[in-house]
Amino acid sequence: MKEAKLIIDKDFVIGSVDKRIYGSFIEHLGRAVYDGIYQPDSPFSDEQGFRKDTMELVNELNVPIVRYPGGNFVSGFCWEDSVGPKEERPSRVDLAWHVIETNQFGLNEFCDWTKKSNSDVMMAVNLGTRGTEEALNLLEYCNFKSGTKYSELRKSHGYNEPHKIKTWCLGNEMDGPWQICHKSASEYARLATETAKAMKELDSDIELVACGSSHSQMPSFGEWEAKVLEEGYDFIDYISMHQYYGNQDNDTPSFLANSIDLDRFISSVIAVCDYVKGKKHSDKTINISLDEWNVWYHSFDQDKKLEKWVQKPHQLEDVYNFEDALLVGSMLITILRHADRIKIACLAQLVNVIAPIMTSDTGAWRQTIFYPFYHCSTFGRGTVLNTLVISPTYNCKKYGDVPCIDSVVVVNDDKDELVVFAVNKDLVEAVTISMELKQFKDFKVCEHIVLHHDDVKAVNTESNPWEVIPVKETNSSVSEGVLTTKLKCKSWNVIRLRK
Ligand code: AHR
Repeated sequence: MKEAKLIIDKDFVIGSVDKRIYGSFIEHLGRAVYDGIYQPDSPFSDEQGFRKDTMELVNELNVPIVRYPGGNFVSGFCWEDSVGPKEERPSRVDLAWHVIETNQFGLNEFCDWTKKSNSDVMMAVNLGTRGTEEALNLLEYCNFKSGTKYSELRKSHGYNEPHKIKTWCLGNEMDGPWQICHKSASEYARLATETAKAMKELDSDIELVACGSSHSQMPSFGEWEAKVLEEGYDFIDYISMHQYYGNQDNDTPSFLANSIDLDRFISSVIAVCDYVKGKKHSDKTINISLDEWNVWYHSFDQDKKLEKWVQKPHQLEDVYNFEDALLVGSMLITILRHADRIKIACLAQLVNVIAPIMTSDTGAWRQTIFYPFYHCSTFGRGTVLNTLVISPTYNCKKYGDVPCIDSVVVVNDDKDELVVFAVNKDLVEAVTISMELKQFKDFKVCEHIVLHHDDVKAVNTESNPWEVIPVKETNSSVSEGVLTTKLKCKSWNVIRLRK
């Protein structure tokens, strides 16, 4: 039997969990908005056309912030088209996803939807086809009380009170050649800095996220962040990171080890942030907004065949399997292990488009990746302990020898609870784990939840949404102040301990 050891101490703390790391993302893309969260002709919808079944699952996930309206979409978006009487809103071409956007759902509807879903808005401004002026107009429309052109326009649209949106993204993936009006690092640094400066003149309560790199292998990575931060340090609060993984080569051991790449990517972004901080002799620390992350590849081939210039196509509709849930679990553990510097993270996306929640005319269901996200969002709030993991290893093509176990321990002081999150990536063998509870020695196991399936390719579908589901496990116990638990091969685990 393989064995691993976790070592914790109550005083060895990484940081507090910012609840916004359980954020998500709704882009005007595919069926995320239309038929996902908004479908006025559906029996599942409320009086505003919001899908109640979707909202129930969003509430279950307890998502505190949702990024909107893109993504690549935002780089061609005219926000003015999406407000006011619906019958007067124009249909427009969306050059990012080659579809028609009807604007029947827009920014006011989104603000209403987030209120009903108990989350906040993270709004992105268009720094692709547009610039500082449009960003300022949008901010004025959303946050200025009254008496000005755009605040009065909002009021005339039935929104007397400002939306008070606090978190704003300065464009999207501006380092990517695929982006509409992609920019060089210096072009973006200038535009983002001047836009940030002006936006903060208008509303000093807002927080701003500048675009970092679109993924860890971007050729401009590092230099991009350094340039943007050197120029905009005083006006920017967070630098973004985006990261998706796929298993195109059908190499599960390497695929599951991708959390190593995420960890290195995060550490490198922190290094660049602190390099600029040092260079500037600044007291201010720039933190990270990992505002797009997930597994994404299942839909690539299908999407190449899609007809252009239609509305709400089945686009980016990845059907997630069990191994995807394991990697999502490992990515969540990695995010938690950087709780001191990652303050916002958005699982991309929320509904129908590379999403934990799917909808059809018969209802809404949970994909496999729903579960690790649900568990972390539900139980992973509080203080993250610096969890030392001494793990056996396995060998994989992409990274060589890697740990079988990814794990992190979170103390939830409100509930007086200790929570161990762990993934066993060994595809064949179980791993026994021991952890001395030290200052938590009176704690006992109150629940061990496990997500496991014999087939890593197993999926949840509309006709069988219960194929991959979490179950209660009984092989964890505490004896003489030591937790001992057996983690099944290929499994996601949540072990909750209480006094
Ligand atoms: O989430 C899908 C797309 O991935 C987003 O529009 C873009 O920002 C990223 O490349």
